[in-house]
Amino acid sequence: MAVRTILRYPEPLLKQVSKPVTEFDAGLKQLAEDMVETMYDAPGVGLAAPQVGELRRLIVMDCSGKENSADLIVAVNPEIVEKDGESYEEEGCLSVPEYYAPVKRFSRVTMSYQDAEGKSLLRQAEGLLAVAMQHEIDHLQGILFVDHLSPLKKSIFRKKYKKLMQEKAEA
Ligand code: NI
Repeated sequence: MAVRTILRYPEPLLKQVSKPVTEFDAGLKQLAEDMVETMYDAPGVGLAAPQVGELRRLIVMDCSGKENSADLIVAVNPEIVEKDGESYEEEGCLSVPEYYAPVKRFSRVTMSYQDAEGKSLLRQAEGLLAVAMQHEIDHLQGILFVDHLSPLKKSIFRKKYKKLMQEKAEA
């Protein structure tokens, strides 16, 4: 296993649409393992393959933050098939460090996906996990949580983020 480098906004690859996974081979399992290790190392509660430079429809999530391995979800070709309710919770992203903002999401979702062996599964979720599913699947469409902000909030974000990254580079 290996911790991969997480790409950061405004890296252009994060804006691209990922391709469906068709081969459930050793390479896919390796990538999934690396992503899990990278997510725990960060640490974060979710990671999508494009964030480590792989344009494949694969996401990993663990809203318990490694406390309970049963909470780890590796989802290949994930899709939201049912959605309901509304939530407005603060989100962050490993590709947009040190910036947080509330985003409007569905509060309950059902996700269809395949596991690393190609078996089809369904998972219902609410709360943080439901938000994580929507956030991570967005990544596969080249959408970041900041893309959901209003044009005004997004322009404030761009300025703030630029300044933040400059300060970091100088430190
Ligand atoms: Ni993210």
